[in-house]
Amino acid sequence: MSQRTLAPFGRRLVRVSDHRRVGAYDVLACADPDGPAPDPGQFYMLAAAERWGGGADERPFLPRAFSVLRRHPGGTLDFLLEDVGPGTARLCELRAGDGLWLLGPLGRGFAPPRDGRRPILAGGGVGIAPLAIWSDALGPDAVVLLGFRDRPHAEGAALIAGARVATDDGARGHHGLVTDLLAAELVRDPGAEVYACGPPPMLEAVRALCAERGVPAQLALESGMACGFGACFGCVVPTRGGYVRLCVDGPVLDAAELEAVA
Ligand SMILES: Cc1cc2nc3c(=O)[nH]c(=O)nc-3n(C[C@H](O)[C@H](O)[C@H](O)COP(=O)(O)OP(=O)(O)OC[C@H]3O[C@@H](n4cnc5c(N)ncnc54)[C@H](O)[C@@H]3O)c2cc1C
Ligand code: FES
Repeated sequence: MSQRTLAPFGRRLVRVSDHRRVGAYDVLACADPDGPAPDPGQFYMLAAAERWGGGADERPFLPRAFSVLRRHPGGTLDFLLEDVGPGTARLCELRAGDGLWLLGPLGRGFAPPRDGRRPILAGGGVGIAPLAIWSDALGPDAVVLLGFRDRPHAEGAALIAGARVATDDGARGHHGLVTDLLAAELVRDPGAEVYACGPPPMLEAVRALCAERGVPAQLALESGMACGFGACFGCVVPTRGGYVRLCVDGPVLDAAELEAVA
């Protein structure tokens, strides 16, 4: 996997510069003038500067992990959020001018395709986030396949130019799974390298498909993360070589290292 771009020591207080809705998702933007440029696939630990723990109505205490969606010229970072619980709900409330604690960039991101292989990016739901910045880096040669549950979520596809879409309910694009599109694409181009991020069942399907076809794949995984920098061992996942801490050894792992994605 790629070498890490190292975060400066300690978290930084930055300001939200923009908040916008994209279909069922929220995109938060913030200027990070003191941070290094992240590698695609790296992540940040985020926490609201205010109302983040300390009272009965303020349940989140630990920061939450978010892949960087995009880095704009000038250093503004975008993050894609899906409101699934108290931390994401609070972050989705933030508006321009609000304070945001940010730690990162963290972890290891995607490595370039091996042996001139053509990159195929496969994303599911909010897992499209690290694929946007990776597609920016790879350019127009990359094939991008995205899967969503319905039309409001599929609006997220607008974040990656030229993406082909599948929806579970058939509201947009292919009626079915993004792995259907991937399987067809691998028939067309068996000499590809696959980059995937999404829910565990999708990643397991991608892993199994690529293993069956002998196609290399890099998977951006998730696990619960309390610190994000290797101290708590809360994020360990099993690999063929033993347990690894996803926050420092991942979140991108080579699919060949995994028996299965659980
Ligand atoms: C490396 C990494 C990158 C991530 N990137 C993004 C991103 O770009 N956008 C985004 O919206 N989310 C991302 N996540 C997930 C995000 O960190 C969780 O959604 C968030 O922690 C949920 O916090 P919460 O307080 O809102 O909900 P919680 O109360 O913590 O959880 C709500 C629900 O989500 C489940 N959940 C919580 N955390 C995770 C997790 N890490 N993986 C799977 N299920 C979880 C819980 O089991 C529960 O069902 C990422 C996670 C990791 C580890
Ligand atoms: S999140 Fe603490 S060790 Fe990985």
